[in-house]
Amino acid sequence: MKILAVSGSPRMEKRSSTLKLVKAVAENTGCEYDLVSLAGKKFTGCIGCGACFDDNICKVKDDLAPLRDKIVEADAYILGGCNFYSTLNANMHAFLERWYQFRHRENDVLWGKPAVTVAVAGLHSAPVAEVLKQFCLYNFIQVTDSVEGLGAANCYYCGHGETCKVGGVYGAHGEGFKITDENIPCVSKDAACMEKARQAGKNLGQILKNGHDRAKATQEVREEMAAMGKRLTEAH
Ligand SMILES: Cc1cc2nc3c(=O)[nH]c(=O)nc-3n(C[C@H](O)[C@H](O)[C@H](O)COP(=O)(O)O)c2cc1C
Repeated sequence: MKILAVSGSPRMEKRSSTLKLVKAVAENTGCEYDLVSLAGKKFTGCIGCGACFDDNICKVKDDLAPLRDKIVEADAYILGGCNFYSTLNANMHAFLERWYQFRHRENDVLWGKPAVTVAVAGLHSAPVAEVLKQFCLYNFIQVTDSVEGLGAANCYYCGHGETCKVGGVYGAHGEGFKITDENIPCVSKDAACMEKARQAGKNLGQILKNGHDRAKATQEVREEMAAMGKRLTEAH
């Protein structure tokens, strides 16, 4: 059983809470896993060229191309992204857009696979969790757990965070706040969040070891998808 764990944060591990949380989930699965960080990679989102319609293979040649085999071979996923401007950050969005290559002619390579989503924000992680969940639904992937946590806005590192009145630090703490190593937010300092990540990892590992029924999971996700479609249709 192999898991593909992806952190969509553009920041390197030292500062990225997304990567730390994705890793914590993966380490606790007890399964073999591949940990991929999108930081530093050069790629685009789906360009809608349609070259994947016949064979479900994306023809865009960039740093995401080598990940296709890992996506296909994985039995489960850990998908982490962070909040940039109240939605999933562009890198992770672009990465998941490229999964459009798997959606044609009832290609079932992703269907029914389990996934844990990881959503990180400076303040508000829920929109990120929601977008990740939607991407999973579109691919008939079953979300088994969603882990959310708070990381540090860049204002903690920019050198002006204590005084810049439009920054996140000033906004959260106000006048006179002193930034120290101890008060810079990081998921690794949040015991409840790390415990949630560990539990989500253990749960995912158990699901795989117990012989995950992909056909049943696919059916359940299809029903969830249909219900979502109905809600959206009624809302219009
Ligand atoms: C361009 C940009 C926009 C951001 N916008 C938001 C936002 O709208 N809401 C929020 O809660 N955090 C926002 N943040 C803060 C990040 O979500 C936070 O720094 C998070 O820890 C980033 O994930 P990472 O630690 O894995 O790199 C933003 C950060 C950047 C760089």
